[in-house]
Amino acid sequence: MGAPSNECQRNNLPDWQETWIYSPTTANLTDMTEPASRETFSTPSNLDGRTALVTGSTSGIGRAVADNLAARGAHVIVSGRDAGRGTSAVTLIRERGGSADFLGADLTTRTGTAGLAERALGVTGQIDILINNAGVFSFGPTSATTEAGFDATFAINVKAPYFLVQALAPAMAERGSGAVVNILTGAAHRGSVAAGLYGSSKAALLLLTQGWAAEFGPCGVRVNAVSPGPIRTEGTDDGAGLESVAAALPARRLGNPREVAAAVAFLAGDEAAYIHGAVLPVDGGAIAA
Ligand SMILES: NC(=O)c1ccc[n+]([C@@H]2O[C@H](COP(=O)([O-])OP(=O)(O)OC[C@H]3O[C@@H](n4cnc5c(N)ncnc54)[C@H](OP(=O)(O)O)[C@@H]3O)[C@@H](O)[C@H]2O)c1
Repeated sequence: MGAPSNECQRNNLPDWQETWIYSPTTANLTDMTEPASRETFSTPSNLDGRTALVTGSTSGIGRAVADNLAARGAHVIVSGRDAGRGTSAVTLIRERGGSADFLGADLTTRTGTAGLAERALGVTGQIDILINNAGVFSFGPTSATTEAGFDATFAINVKAPYFLVQALAPAMAERGSGAVVNILTGAAHRGSVAAGLYGSSKAALLLLTQGWAAEFGPCGVRVNAVSPGPIRTEGTDDGAGLESVAAALPARRLGNPREVAAAVAFLAGDEAAYIHGAVLPVDGGAIAA
């Protein structure tokens, strides 16, 4: 078999891992499986100097992700259609000592997606972390689905992540490092009444997560996903039945956006350096319910 066409120039290990694995003091298996001291494992989640684009970060889960990444030192591009909410998210990050800018974008169209990628690169020079979070919930019976509703769901939940990855991942691959985290949902993993359209759009994103992990992983770009359970956000505020779903989970409660954000930040950072193509459920234990 010939060499893959996207063969990489170098095998980029994050600094902390170089120290941990290849330090001359790591003489035995114990040393290789556990950091020898706090010093050698000091900043695994430090995102200083990295830039992150978080779609749909004017509210809910995306906003919590933007806050978390900024708190870890990343320069964050907050994005969404609502300039008022976007600006207040940026203001709060800056007041807390973080670094962020807002870029308005409607991700329903290919032009909107391409424009966001281009402007984000214009502001930051490069994007190291892409969080594909913007999404629409489209619940209802198949018989009531309109073509416009179908197209809008797939445009935001699938097409926008697809073309953002197309626009940003090749440059990450060229640099030999980068991270993409896609936001899924429990409805992507099993069929249920009224969630066919929404679930199938997120199932497509699940498949893309694995495909992109295979495609870009050899060049140092890790692609993973977080699959949230019922989370109270602006988007689910009027979601009847969210509490009853939560009541049946081992956790016996709704999740909050910060809990999802912590998982996203983990997958985006160097602690997750050996994790590719994984889906991390943050769902109160739905798998065991
Ligand atoms: N909350 C939950 O229970 C739950 C569970 C599983 C998965 N999820 C997933 O988590 C993600 C975030 O959900 P959330 O609950 O945080 O929802 P949310 O509060 O409604 O936030 C959705 C975000 O997406 C942005 N957005 C929507 N349409 C857009 C468009 N056409 N162009 C650009 N941005 C757009 C919104 O920004 P603007 O309004 O400013 O445009 C907003 O920032 C979604 O992908 C959702 O499927 C949520």
